Amino acid sequence: MKKRLLSGIKPTGDIHIGNYFGAMRQFLDLQNEYESFIFIADYHALNQIQNPKEMAQYSMDIAKAYLAIGLDPKKVALFKQSDVPAVTELAWIFNCLTPMAELERAHAYKDAKAKSNPINMGLFDYPVLMAADILLYNSDVVPVGQDQKQHLEMAQDTAKKFNRIFGETFKVPQELILKDVGAIRGLDGRKMSKSYKNTIGLFDDEKTINKKSMCITTDCRRADEPKDIEACSVFSLHRLFSTEADIKKLEKQYCEGSISYKESKELLAEKINKFLNPIREKKAELDKNPKLVEKILKDGAEKAAAEAEKIMKEVKKKIGVA
Ligand code: AMP
Ligand code: TRP
Repeated sequence: MKKRLLSGIKPTGDIHIGNYFGAMRQFLDLQNEYESFIFIADYHALNQIQNPKEMAQYSMDIAKAYLAIGLDPKKVALFKQSDVPAVTELAWIFNCLTPMAELERAHAYKDAKAKSNPINMGLFDYPVLMAADILLYNSDVVPVGQDQKQHLEMAQDTAKKFNRIFGETFKVPQELILKDVGAIRGLDGRKMSKSYKNTIGLFDDEKTINKKSMCITTDCRRADEPKDIEACSVFSLHRLFSTEADIKKLEKQYCEGSISYKESKELLAEKINKFLNPIREKKAELDKNPKLVEKILKDGAEKAAAEAEKIMKEVKKKIGVA
């Protein structure tokens, strides 16, 4: 029996190669090792995305992106969070067990408060809905990056608390820390992020990649001057798309001053396009066949809902409403 894995991704914008190398790619290996449940966290995104067209578009794009990079719907239940409404029911039950003071200590809430950003109840209650996600499917492991560790701990605490009050019900899931690939740099040298508008999109077409590559910020060393590989954002992106031998060769050219930034950028664009081509092809196939994507999401939701139903029955009995 394979252990069960669960993860969620918020549909909050266009998907970029930082998301791919930092998170998405790792699920391709994990799907072979674990029975995987991966969902599109649309209800989590609702406290940011309040435009129905964007919500629908970003959600579909995430589904397509995962399928295009090779997630196998036979191995993974891929579904939309909102298609299993039991999650909000469980979140309510957990709300009644969660002290406000605990939520006031949550990073996302504290950050928003420190920045004086507007805070809705969805943002404040985010960790509770996330605990419901995590515990509703009886998962063994939850892969998380550093930024989500606190949320997972809160889910573990919630499971223990429920079990303590109402009797053994929830499995306490373990964290599975994703490999830290470090921050992938964007076009301006800062961490690649949609909020900085410095991204290379997973679905960018060839022309866009060519154009964006030429816009990557560099210093102004001439072609024949030695260049600093650590400081160069172009070089750091080359690392993601090159073989070991290619990167050694490029490093030598940088140190000798036998390659210009322009040439390096052209070479990078070529490599990125080569890497993205099969992903673009699969994405184009999925674009032509939206019914297929809908069917995959529906099947995923059915599998997830069947699991959810089992737990909810027990939970309702335990709390005395069934
Ligand atoms: P976001 O939608 O920006 O919260 O990103 C989702 C996930 O993608 C993050 O939790 C990271 O694991 C990964 N990610 C996003 N941007 C980067 C980046 N620039 N470098 C590495 N990983 C990233
Ligand atoms: N909060 C996660 C993020 O911002 C997304 C998420 C929602 C999630 N529910 C989850 C991740 C459950 C893991 C498990 O990236």
